[in-house]
Amino acid sequence: MKRLFMQEVATRDGFQNEKTFIDTGDKIALINALSLCGYAKIEVTSFTSPKAIPALRDAEAVMAGIHRQPGVEYTVLVPNVRGAERALGCGIDEANLVMSVSEPHNRSNLRMTREQSFAQLKEVVGVIGQGPVAINVSLSTVFGCPMQGDVPAGEVLNWVERFADLGVRGITLCDTTGMAFPSQVEALSRQVRERFPHLQTTLHFHNTRGMALANTLAALQAGVDRFDASLGGLGGCPYAPGASGNVCMEDLVHMLDLMGYDTGMDLARVLAASATLPGLIGHDTPSAILKAGRRLDLHPIPEHVHTLSKQVANPELERTR
Ligand code: COA
Ligand code: ZN
Repeated sequence: MKRLFMQEVATRDGFQNEKTFIDTGDKIALINALSLCGYAKIEVTSFTSPKAIPALRDAEAVMAGIHRQPGVEYTVLVPNVRGAERALGCGIDEANLVMSVSEPHNRSNLRMTREQSFAQLKEVVGVIGQGPVAINVSLSTVFGCPMQGDVPAGEVLNWVERFADLGVRGITLCDTTGMAFPSQVEALSRQVRERFPHLQTTLHFHNTRGMALANTLAALQAGVDRFDASLGGLGGCPYAPGASGNVCMEDLVHMLDLMGYDTGMDLARVLAASATLPGLIGHDTPSAILKAGRRLDLHPIPEHVHTLSKQVANPELERTR
């Protein structure tokens, strides 16, 4: 049974996009519940400017309030040196740095050119240093940008190489606005894994065009074993036109479990946590399994079917009536 590593992003990618502010205590309670679900990693929050992402302005309080479960890594998004310093003060396990491989999306999201971003992130890598805190870099829009269109694979590989040369532990290939399609995902995942076998590689899909589960299968075929997904399918980038939710965690785990992969996840607990989301965010979520139930969550057979089966089993009964 192949072991896969599931990484939850709802409290960062999901909550950053919600209109109403989610109470700090509710965030902490949700993360504590998620910590018991079997995740390899939880992206707790982000240390960005509170003006840019007001929904996550309570990052320090959330990090201070959660109970950490041994075996789960707690990661946070870090956009610059200021964010790194704040995050290091909270005892994070990993810093997730972010930049876009598309120039217009990087300018829109981070308000600088890609070269300026790289220079800043290089500085962040220096600040975090060789200590116990791991570094991951999430590259946005690698499968296409809603403003630029396609981003050549060669360009994506160059950015991966520049960060690999800085000694980061991992890279996440992000399909920020659901532009990826399976054959493209398989080809790029293969290239990254072949050229950078030592990098921890994560795939991060949004289900904007309904292709996220198919894209996950394509990445699996290329040997990828690490996936970001979001409880209830929350998520979206406030700086990418038309962006919508990440691939839904419970839908993904449900599929992978059926296929015999070892996700390490407790799906019942994930579903219970997901059921609390509408109460927190004030609206429904796109989760399919929460609505439909698991494949073998059976329904009682209606009474009229019982009557019919009795008649079929004993035709005498029918004749004597
Ligand atoms: N934490 C807290 N405050 C921060 C900060 C951080 N990491 N980085 C910048 N700031 C504050 C500055 O202190 C400054 O505050 P002031 O206006 O009160 O002086 C203000 O933000 C602007 O700072 P500046 O350095 O000019 O940054 P900017 O305006 O160019 O913004 C980013 C750069 C990256 C910080 C900002 O665009 C951002 O956080 N974007 C959100 C990125 C994101 O998380 N997107 C979604 C996930 S992909
Ligand atoms: Zn995302």
